[in-house]
Amino acid sequence: MRTWSVGGMAIPERVLSNDDLSGFVDTSDEWIRTRTGIRERRMAGERESTATLGLRAAQMALDVANVSPQDVGLIIVATSTADYVFPSTASLIQGWLGATHAGAFDLSAACTGFVYAMEMASQSVRAGGVDVALVIGAETMTRVLDWGDRNTCVLFGDGAGAVVLRASDVPGGVLSCVLGSDGSGADLLAIPNGYKPHAHPSVNGAHKLSMDGRGVYRFASRIIGDSVAETLAKAGLRIDDVSLIVPHQANQRIIDAAARQLKVPVDRFFSNLDRYGNTSAASIPIALCEAVDQGRIRPSDYVVLVGFGGGLTWGAMALQWPEELPPEMGEWSLRRRRVFYTLMRWRERLLRLWWRIQVIVLGTAAPGTELEPGDAARPRRLPRLRMPRFLQRPREPAALPPGPEPGEGRED
Ligand code: COA
Repeated sequence: MRTWSVGGMAIPERVLSNDDLSGFVDTSDEWIRTRTGIRERRMAGERESTATLGLRAAQMALDVANVSPQDVGLIIVATSTADYVFPSTASLIQGWLGATHAGAFDLSAACTGFVYAMEMASQSVRAGGVDVALVIGAETMTRVLDWGDRNTCVLFGDGAGAVVLRASDVPGGVLSCVLGSDGSGADLLAIPNGYKPHAHPSVNGAHKLSMDGRGVYRFASRIIGDSVAETLAKAGLRIDDVSLIVPHQANQRIIDAAARQLKVPVDRFFSNLDRYGNTSAASIPIALCEAVDQGRIRPSDYVVLVGFGGGLTWGAMALQWPEELPPEMGEWSLRRRRVFYTLMRWRERLLRLWWRIQVIVLGTAAPGTELEPGDAARPRRLPRLRMPRFLQRPREPAALPPGPEPGEGRED
């Protein structure tokens, strides 16, 4: 069984140019362009978030793949800037899409997150657990930047990209993948949680990104070449078989160094970082979408995705673009899909209200209440009204198994 993939993307409208940045931090367009290749980046608006950008990218990916949200069995969102610790961004998107048969979770592997998520999803499809998986990389990095720190604030931007993976007998799909991690480099790139008692004092408990630029640069310029070579060997391919390498978009100099290491012309690497900067886990799917749009990826082409980032983490994946793409959705089908999404948003709002009404009207179930015979057979029925608590027969609290004494088993 193979998997094939088709994608979508979403970027905020607001553009922040290098000159805009030099208005409030000590930098210049010339410095940023020559050191990184970045000219401008996008910044999420007030009503945008990681989840809303991810939703737009997901809707586009489902349209392009001609797949109904209700056929999706798994949604994974790779992100470091989730709207909440929980609920997951994936669950929010699942509800808004009306993907009522999908499991959903967020995946944290920093800028490598999208490659990790693709591998998890493709393995689920291959194993037969799900037929269709939706993989999203979505970020609002501008919300975790210290806008007074010129070392970092010039590098990042916001956006989202998504890919639909589907079981198929048509040739094409994920051929091989290598994933890696080296926790000894954890300090090089970090976004601490404000509530962590051991957060570094220099961060003052804020959720702001910190980075050792030179350390990351050294790691990144080596790891792209190494991991691309490793995944190609695993897939039985040579570098000359590959039509396009879609790297994480961090710095043009890092991409140039990787091209030199792999001894391929730099135009074999796709680059759009001049317009979006580093959008972390969203950068690879956005680049993939633009590469397809620009005709840089054609049916049956071999493509390599390669990411690196905080953790430290890295990952590379060899794909063969499908020979046959799904038929395009017609105008009427697209309109029906838009109406469906509007209905799903309203359904989701009503269900949120229903959760509240249930608690007010029905209260909470008494602890230890057993399911009644037949309940399992109708799990989707609404809970029935129960007797008021004071009329119920008091229950003996269940005995807990003996646990360890306080402090037992700790190695101080
Ligand atoms: N504008 C102007 N000057 C800046 C600046 C900015 N935005 N940022 C840093 N500088 C200054 C530094 O303060 C330093 O000044 P000093 O010599 O007086 O101390 C000087 O420029 C050189 O700094 P340096 O860190 O050596 O620059 P660099 O050539 O290594 O480039 C990065 C810096 C951040 C662009 C580069 O290290 C890099 O791209 N690293 C990888 C970062 C990355 O991709 N992270 C995400 C990975 S997922």
